[in-house]
Amino acid sequence: MSEFPTHAATPITSPEAVRGTLGILGAGRVGTSVARAALKAGYAVNIAASGDPSQIALIVEIVVPGAKAVTAAEAVASADIVVLALPLHKYRSIDAAALSGKIVIDAMNYWSPIDGTQDDFEEGTSSETIAEYLPGARLVKTLNHIGYHELEADDKPSGHPHRRALAVASDDTQAAYAVMHFIENLGYDAVNTGSLASGASFEPGTIIFGAAHTAAEIHQELARWNAAVA
Ligand SMILES: NC(=O)c1ccc[n+]([C@@H]2O[C@H](COP(=O)([O-])OP(=O)(O)OC[C@H]3O[C@@H](n4cnc5c(N)ncnc54)[C@H](OP(=O)(O)O)[C@@H]3O)[C@@H](O)[C@H]2O)c1
Repeated sequence: MSEFPTHAATPITSPEAVRGTLGILGAGRVGTSVARAALKAGYAVNIAASGDPSQIALIVEIVVPGAKAVTAAEAVASADIVVLALPLHKYRSIDAAALSGKIVIDAMNYWSPIDGTQDDFEEGTSSETIAEYLPGARLVKTLNHIGYHELEADDKPSGHPHRRALAVASDDTQAAYAVMHFIENLGYDAVNTGSLASGASFEPGTIIFGAAHTAAEIHQELARWNAAVA
């Protein structure tokens, strides 16, 4: 039985899954790290790169034992939550129609000093641009401000005084709650910053983006951020 809210467009399709099925688009550093963390937390994981699953089957078997290499279409179709873990500049290769009605985590970042200037992302947050491209998706920005190498190392049980927190932003309150639940299950406190636009508070270049913080520290920084932008 899935812990995610039931939603007509996101049926639970993996009876073996304890907590639901994650569909990850991107089998690189972030995608495989999220996959391992999710498997550890009791989720079923389907993971896809841009091409045929046979191209990543061996690497998935080795670096993410327990996950299944599938096509992007299969990863999306079977998912209770989809994770976007591909390079931001490739976002137009995502099948927007397939994501309609899905809860979708946007873990991607726009980092112009590294990636170069991309005109699509010069206004607002990168997730707002992604939301425009995916009008039917229930988009939630999170997992973008933790290093892929930290995700599996920094998890802690609920109530631990030094438990790290991850910020969550969405214009869809129910989707945000479902993703916060997922984040908590990964071993992190989840802090809801509000609308998708509020995700500006944890994009590259911000204090929250730059280091590990507890929930109290993120709330404190959010108060400072909100006062500064008011
Ligand atoms: N580095 C970090 O610690 C960190 C932390 C948080 C977030 N991020 C963000 O996470 C994103 C991914 O970063 P990364 O370092 O994991 O990238 P990466 O190692 O280059 O991996 C990218 C993956 O995306 C796949 N891909 C490309 N287009 C796809 C599509 N349409 N559908 C499915 N998969 C597709 C690629 O597959 P092919 O090889 O087949 O093209 C590849 O497996 C970036 O936006 C980055 O800014 C990074």
